[in-house]
Amino acid sequence: MIILAVETSCDETSVAIVKDGRNILSNVIASQVEIHARYGGIVPEVASRQHMLTIVPVSEQAFKEAGIDQGQLDAVAVTKGPGLAGSLIVGVNFAKALALANKLPLIGINHLEGHIYANWLTAVQPELPCLCLIVSGGHSDLILMREHGHFQKLGSTRDDAAGEAFDKGARILGLPYPGGPAIQAVTNGVTTSLSLPRAWLKDTDDFSFSGVKTALLHMAEAQNDRDEKWTREAAAAFQDAIVDVLVTKSIQAAKRHGVKGILLAGGVAANSALRSRMLAASPLPVLIPPPILCTDNAGMVGSCAYYRLMSGQAADNDGLDVIPSLAFGL
Ligand code: KG4
Ligand code: ZN
Repeated sequence: MIILAVETSCDETSVAIVKDGRNILSNVIASQVEIHARYGGIVPEVASRQHMLTIVPVSEQAFKEAGIDQGQLDAVAVTKGPGLAGSLIVGVNFAKALALANKLPLIGINHLEGHIYANWLTAVQPELPCLCLIVSGGHSDLILMREHGHFQKLGSTRDDAAGEAFDKGARILGLPYPGGPAIQAVTNGVTTSLSLPRAWLKDTDDFSFSGVKTALLHMAEAQNDRDEKWTREAAAAFQDAIVDVLVTKSIQAAKRHGVKGILLAGGVAANSALRSRMLAASPLPVLIPPPILCTDNAGMVGSCAYYRLMSGQAADNDGLDVIPSLAFGL
């Protein structure tokens, strides 16, 4: 089964063509990072306009790279939420038009569920049940996945998402947007003597990252001489604090639920410290997609749609609309 998938929930315009939920024939991603970097964050109006400009060339490129034409598609999938309304609308309308013109089933996909399915696009296939840690710019969730389409949210952030914390922490340190990759770059090979507090929120699977961000701000304000060495050490302490909590709480939850493994997903799963620490600390198998499949891409949406169709989900051709605040599992 060949599915064309569209992802425009935030600031990446992506179209992928995925075969049988596991094989990427093409996965074209047009990033808007440079456009938004000058504002220090995503400007929704700019993002949706940019999606309008790039969605057609990106889809043409996806067909070209996959070496197929519209007549060979079996279904169209698109992210319906959560995300920025104006950005989601561009992708959903494009997918609707493509499905209508080719008389194909159209599947609306939850972006967070999509992130998890990036793990089905790699050589080693996940075993179920598994524990999923989704860490992105807008979400930090611990999800128990019992089988395809069956998700139970165990916990989530009570304030900032992990990616949001990276972005805000980077701004405090005078590092560029997006903050996660910038912090990773300056902490490479750094050992730090600085330390920041962790919010453990004991006896829950919830997270909190606003405290460590405030602690970083206070530490920066108290530091008169913020040279490059100090910035690197402060960034490393900040990254350590976030990674420590994510790794420790994921492993605790995985053990408690007797799962077969841990899956990482979302943009922050591209973080090399998180990846290496989780792999080293977990007694259970850990799967992490390659960084390009951790951040937003349509390949993950195509995989998720395949497993949805296989488990008997009806197409959404008639009623599909964007749901910017879509909850997990819907
Ligand atoms: O999943 P994603 O691409 O978009 C959302 O759905 O939010 O995640 C974007 C987030 C940003 O906050 C970015 O700073 C973070 O993922 N991120 C990283 C890294 N790469 C992206 N955070 C830490 N380390 C990275 N290498
Ligand atoms: Zn995402």
